[in-house]
Amino acid sequence: MSEANHTPVLLDEVIRYLDPKPGQWIVDCTLNGGGHASAVAATGAQVLGIEWDPTIAAAFPKNHPELLGKVTVVNDTYTNLERICAEHSVVPDGILFDLGLSSLHYETSGRGFSFLRDEPLDMRFNPETNPLTAGRIVNEWPVEDLERILVEYGEEQFAGQIAAAVALARRTAPLRTTTDLVTIIESAVPAWYQHRKLHCATKTFQALRVAVNTELENVAQGVAAAIRVLKPGGRLLVISFQGAEDKIVREMFKTAAKNGVARWVTRSTVRPTWSEITKNPRSRSAKLKIIERL
Ligand SMILES: C[S@@+](CC[C@H](N)C(=O)[O-])C[C@H]1O[C@@H](n2cnc3c(N)ncnc32)[C@H](O)[C@@H]1O
Repeated sequence: MSEANHTPVLLDEVIRYLDPKPGQWIVDCTLNGGGHASAVAATGAQVLGIEWDPTIAAAFPKNHPELLGKVTVVNDTYTNLERICAEHSVVPDGILFDLGLSSLHYETSGRGFSFLRDEPLDMRFNPETNPLTAGRIVNEWPVEDLERILVEYGEEQFAGQIAAAVALARRTAPLRTTTDLVTIIESAVPAWYQHRKLHCATKTFQALRVAVNTELENVAQGVAAAIRVLKPGGRLLVISFQGAEDKIVREMFKTAAKNGVARWVTRSTVRPTWSEITKNPRSRSAKLKIIERL
């Protein structure tokens, strides 16, 4: 993947609440192109950057020679956070998760994350370790399971109709590309649904991506591990973009606070300012939650 621009969201707020200091270790669990990591490194803190996507992880040192010795890149899933920290002898002073995918995935991965491009139905963050593709889900999964993920991970109101249309179409020929899938979605939903501001394939694509990468399970595992490894006084920041992810984080933070393991740093969720949303519309659904380890 080439270096497309991914603008980091809530950057000022992340630096304010992480408050990194020279000599500290901050773990960036979702490194990507290093938008947040570069700003953390600029404070003099060391960054352990975890990135699941092998193409993005491999490109990082080439794209950021200036961060050599300041950001240690690990190509792995953050669900292995405890092992990764142990292997690098790091007890984190702060941990950041910036969930979801990046502009690099939409624009240059060639893996079918965007319904606006004609690409194979893949959607894997890590094609080297994950055998499940979006193509396998739409071509092989029972129609009820397809409908279930469209409801649970996409909150798609036409889940039943879309799942049925996919099941019918694949009896003739397997779906191969994003365009095949978009055409079927368009045939299954009412005309008014196709002419709204939100593209009628948005929720189906989101649901497939979440299922392919087991994103909700990963968040639950990663956040639990982060609470365990964090140094007392260290802060855990999670930026989520979907209701289901935000709910998992809220419940886990609540439990940690109730059990005396952590305290809330801000009473309410931190949201982007109007000015940030105007400059970077992708930030509009971002929600930042913060706890401090006791
Ligand atoms: C929203 S981007 C992060 C952007 C980054 N904070 C920045 O400002 O440049 C999320 C990144 O997390 C990665 N990712 C997704 N699931 C992951 C996982 N389980 N472990 C590690 N990285 C993951 C994605 O590949 C993607 O590059």
